[in-house]
Amino acid sequence: MARILITSALPYINGIKHLGNLVGSQLPSDAYARYMRARGHEVMFICATDEHGTPAELAAAKAGVPVADFCTDMWQVQKDIAEGFRLSFDYFGRSSSSRNRDLTQHLAAALGKNGLIEEVSEKQIYSKADGRYLPDRYIEGTCPDCGSENARGDQCENCTKQLDPTDLINPRSAISGSTDLEVRKTKHLYLKQSAMRDKLDKWIDSQVGWPVLTTSIAKKWLHDGDGLRDRGITRDLDWGVPVQFEGAPWQGMEGKVFYVWFDAPIEYIAATAEWADANGADDSAWERWWREDKGADDVHYVQFMGKDNVPFHTLSFPATLMGSNEPWKLVDFIKSYNWLTYEGGKFSTSAGRGIFMDQALEIMPSDYWRWWLLSNAPESSDSNFTWESFQAGINKDLADVLGNFVSRVTKFCRGKFGEQVPEGGSYGPAEAAVSAEIAKRLTAYQNNMEKIELRKAAADLRAIWVAGNEYLQAAAPWSVYKENPEDAAAIVRFALNLVRLYGVLSGPFIPDAAHSILQSVNATDARWPDDLDAALLALPAGHGFTTPDVLFAKISDERRDELEAQFAGD
Ligand code: MF3
Ligand code: ZN
Repeated sequence: MARILITSALPYINGIKHLGNLVGSQLPSDAYARYMRARGHEVMFICATDEHGTPAELAAAKAGVPVADFCTDMWQVQKDIAEGFRLSFDYFGRSSSSRNRDLTQHLAAALGKNGLIEEVSEKQIYSKADGRYLPDRYIEGTCPDCGSENARGDQCENCTKQLDPTDLINPRSAISGSTDLEVRKTKHLYLKQSAMRDKLDKWIDSQVGWPVLTTSIAKKWLHDGDGLRDRGITRDLDWGVPVQFEGAPWQGMEGKVFYVWFDAPIEYIAATAEWADANGADDSAWERWWREDKGADDVHYVQFMGKDNVPFHTLSFPATLMGSNEPWKLVDFIKSYNWLTYEGGKFSTSAGRGIFMDQALEIMPSDYWRWWLLSNAPESSDSNFTWESFQAGINKDLADVLGNFVSRVTKFCRGKFGEQVPEGGSYGPAEAAVSAEIAKRLTAYQNNMEKIELRKAAADLRAIWVAGNEYLQAAAPWSVYKENPEDAAAIVRFALNLVRLYGVLSGPFIPDAAHSILQSVNATDARWPDDLDAALLALPAGHGFTTPDVLFAKISDERRDELEAQFAGD
């Protein structure tokens, strides 16, 4: 049994996320957490809202509410939606928590002590029309690297390049659109991450088996010269962690806050502390996950994120932790995702194009989304959502294969033998053959889950369902029954055990349906099969069950067309 720490990139507080965001971190991390729990490991699964910085201020201003209230409301909204998708976080924290404030100030103090923070008089863009500085997302313009016209002052989302506001070509204010801007000097604190280049380089080189997407982005920024240049970790904003060092002010930094990307990843740790507080536990409860001197040395830590987040997790956050010279747990594996597109184009919040998490839950059960998104996860390249593909995934995989199998077995049994596992007959070569097939697929499924190849794992799971369906089709208990009810009973008994097995194995992907399946065969306590043959004998003759309602309703062509039109945007 291992101890596995799992974090999902923290969604910004500024709005409800779309399905592309969901499949890029929260959803795959949940499938992985569920799998690891099912395998008996001790899991700590953490997420939180990322509440500071310009995105929050801009969104709150737009909504016309104070930013703190805006964040409190949106945290609840995001938490409820996460529950709707059955994201099984052990804790869903807030980066504006006092735990995060304290930890952020503590780490800044440690970095300062180690000579890794310096004061820099830097050029900031000042907007006369807005009467304020425009850090980060308050400014937009053309990316000097890839030419995308919607790059923001902190990063170009298109090519992932980290930027400074003064890098942008044709800059404009994100508040007013004004281009009447001037460069002014103001003092900020910089983290000397360039001093840690060798350490970071060695650390990244020592990682084995990281996804190519992760290491290629990390290496690019590490060697690209300015990828690892020293960066400002403070901002002229009101909303954020005040620039203080464990209570002591830093002269000249009054009224400034830490940059959101400095405090956000620290919230992974802080949220674990919030979890301990919420459970009335003392500090050792979270420290054993995060402090190598307090037991975290045997923790396996996995992070999930979209590819735009990789530079921050491979370079800046490790630089913060390493630079503190304190024994913080560093990540062991970074799983990163490409983009999900919507009907061949981008999801667009402003144009209302694509599907947002709240809307998704209003129109279809969470399992449908989970299944389609995970079985089409953008793992080796971008993937594309289409309503046609969604309809096919649900109707073919869930309804025709899994749903149909469960329904045929239970209904047939109820009709001929009643609602308990029938006795009589014995298993023969057909059962041995399907067991062997499933054993093979199960090994592949487990290997892919361990490697976090979820798309492949979904295909393995589907193949396990298909094997049962094909077995039932060939064994045809409905024909056998006429001549030989005992033989039919053995087939049904075996198939009911497959139903139970499917309930267990499907949990990481479709937890609600998996639970209904296990409930129907009175086996909600069923464990992951360490021994497949034994698992297929788990339900003995006489074990009662209830025939479930339709597990997955099919999506009609009319409904599909209707939804396609509804979400096409303007
Ligand atoms: N809020 C960021 C985003 O949506 C992710 C923050 S991840 C963390 O891209 F590490 F900073 F927490
Ligand atoms: Zn770019």
